[in-house]
Parts: sequence; structure tokens; C-alpha cells
Amino acid sequence: MKKLLNTVLSASLLAASFTAIAEEAKGPTLFERIGGEPVAREIVSDIWDNHGKNPIVKNRFQYSDPVYVKQKVYEIFAMATGANVEYTGQDMKTTHAAMNISETEFNAVVDDIMLALDENAIAQQEKNEILAILWSVRPDVVNSNVTTQALAPAKAQHAH
Ligand code: HEM
Repeated sequence: MKKLLNTVLSASLLAASFTAIAEEAKGPTLFERIGGEPVAREIVSDIWDNHGKNPIVKNRFQYSDPVYVKQKVYEIFAMATGANVEYTGQDMKTTHAAMNISETEFNAVVDDIMLALDENAIAQQEKNEILAILWSVRPDVVNSNVTTQALAPAKAQHAH
């Protein structure tokens, strides 16, 4: 019985130390590396300002409430970069589906975000990681009909 207890104890100690090593190896989250909440809020505010100056997308946000949109974008940004923050907005597909957003608009929004990262002196490594996150959201934001139409001629050529 004592032996069993010892085995169980050392197994759980081992597990605990593995967890500690894993935590250490993981290091700070992307959210922490960019400077946490104050920097993330500043980035979100700069994204909003950049959209307002960007002729490709500014009309999209003309009737939007800046306080509301900034809060939701802060939440989703914080969550996606590893902060313990809950996103309380609508999912990306539901939010953008009816807007008929083009690839050009999507790229313009990504440009505004990259500019905001530069404005906050975010390093290349962190910029790359954020760009990858944005790219992963693309299928939910860009209107799939627009993409399908763009690809249709190429598909037709290969049909026969
Ligand atoms: C990776 C890209 C994008 C992300 C992560 C994103 C994120 C968000 C979030 C979190 C919201 C608030 C959702 C809610 O109301 O609960 C939102 C709303 C919105 N987004 Fe996006 N978005 C992206 C791209 C775009 C693009 C390309 C456009 C068009 C140019 C766009 C236009 C809008 C508009 C017009 C709203 C509604 C604002 C309002 O409620 O008044 N978004 N987006």
C-alpha cells in the first residue's frame, strides 16, 4: 500500500514538474509580448483611426459606434493573442456575412492593422504572428460568392 502511494505521489510530482516545464517553454503569450492591455487598447484605437482615413473602407464604419466596435475588437484581439479575456461579440461569419466584403477591403483592413502595429513599435516576429491570425479569419470575413466568381473562369477552363 505504501509502495502504491509512493508511486502515485511520484507520478503526480512528475506530472506537476512536466507541467511547469511546459509552462516555462511556452513562455509569455503573444498578448503579453506586445505589451498587454494598454498597448492592445492603443493598437485597437489606432486601427479604428486608420480605417477612418482609409478610402477603401471608411464608409463601412460611418454609422458604427466607436466605443462599441473598439471594445469588441479589443476582446477578440486579446482572446486570439492568448489573453484570458472573453469575446462577447457575434461570431465573425454572422457579423460580416451580409456585408459582401471583397478581398480588396479585407486587404485594406489588414493594411490598417499592420500600420497600427508599426505605430506601436510591434516587432516583426509578433507582426508575423498577428498576420497569421488575421489570415485564418479571412474565409469568415470575405464574401465567398465574390471568391467563387473570381475563380469560376479558371475552373471552367479545366473542366474539359
Ligand atoms: C480579420 C479581419 C476582421 C476582424 C477580426 C473583424 C472583427 C470585427 C468585430 C470583432 C466586430 C464586432 C462584432 C460585433 O458586433 O459583435 C466587427 C464588426 C464589423 N466589421 Fe469587422 N473584422 C474584420 C474585417 C472586416 C472587414 C474587411 C470589414 C470591411 C471593410 C469589416 C467591417 C465591419 C463592420 C462594418 C462591422 C460592424 C460595426 C458595427 O457594429 O457598427 N470587418 N468586425
